[in-house]
Amino acid sequence: MKITVVGAGAVGATTADNIIRRELAEEVVLLDIKEGVSEGKSLDMYQTAALLGFNTKPIGSTNDYEKTKGSDVVVITSGLPRKPGMTREELIGINAGIVKGVTENLLKYSPKAIVIVVSNPMDTMTYLALKESGIPKKRLIGMGGALDSARFKTYLAMAMDVSPLDIHGMVIGGHGDTTMIPLTRLATYNGIPVSRFLSADQLEKVAADTMVGGATLTKLIGTSAWYAPGAATMMLVESIVRNQKRIVPCSVYLNGEYGQKDICMGVPVVLGRNGWEKIINLRLSDAEKAAFEKSAEAVRSMNAALNL
Ligand code: NAI
Repeated sequence: MKITVVGAGAVGATTADNIIRRELAEEVVLLDIKEGVSEGKSLDMYQTAALLGFNTKPIGSTNDYEKTKGSDVVVITSGLPRKPGMTREELIGINAGIVKGVTENLLKYSPKAIVIVVSNPMDTMTYLALKESGIPKKRLIGMGGALDSARFKTYLAMAMDVSPLDIHGMVIGGHGDTTMIPLTRLATYNGIPVSRFLSADQLEKVAADTMVGGATLTKLIGTSAWYAPGAATMMLVESIVRNQKRIVPCSVYLNGEYGQKDICMGVPVVLGRNGWEKIINLRLSDAEKAAFEKSAEAVRSMNAALNL
């Protein structure tokens, strides 16, 4: 198994670090345009092997795609992150050019790879990668819902003072502060609806905190977050390479599912060795359906800016 991560910045390097620690592949190539950075970070990570005990080898590459040849999974994290006060959507111009070029290069050397897009605005970047590359839809996955759901579970666990491990919950829709939909109605604590433990006001606050979860961190740190984004991306890679068939909300191409066509946005999918294998059709309430439609409208207007 070979995995490539493009972008050796905060999210890319953390993703690669998580992947090698869990030995998800024999080789992990970390590629960046900044001279020496991916080589340096890869060597730094490899020096943890003797301390932590793993056998996966990280390999750095300054923009040499030959080294990525034959990758089974490729992850795209290259692009600008947001600064305090910025929305993910403001990144579209620069990141569209980067994601397009990177996708072309990756698929030239790894035509059969499963592609995970992380760069923001992620739903639009995923759509762009699909339209520009013509890659089969089941091999293209946008990472957003996995992170948003982890934040949702964490806020629920904090409100209930329990372990996030015992919380199940999903965030679907677009990966934006105003477009994501935390499904509080369906969230459970070991199978028991969380509404048994939290009031409507408390649940509303959890949902609101989840939606601005990324912005809250950007304000605190001064740039966008990386620990949870890196772990969430690794979790997608793990479900694919180990064929775990986990259900994770991911941005995928919809062709009528959830009432939407020709758009990539977050819905629960089963992730296995061939990419996303099927979409899980949740029975949404009328309010959730309306929120999904509103979210799709926002993602669609962002896609329109690509002029595809
Ligand atoms: P960063 O600035 O730390 O790293 C980005 C890296 O991409 C830099 O090292 C840069 O040199 C590299 N890069 C730029 N153009 C490139 C190209 N053409 N080829 C190869 N490498 C290139 O940024 P960070 O924090 O790692 O974020 C990366 C992206 O991921 C941003 O767009 C950010 O908004 C997004 N993001 C998405 C999340 C999600 O849930 N989908 C969560 C967190 C971040």
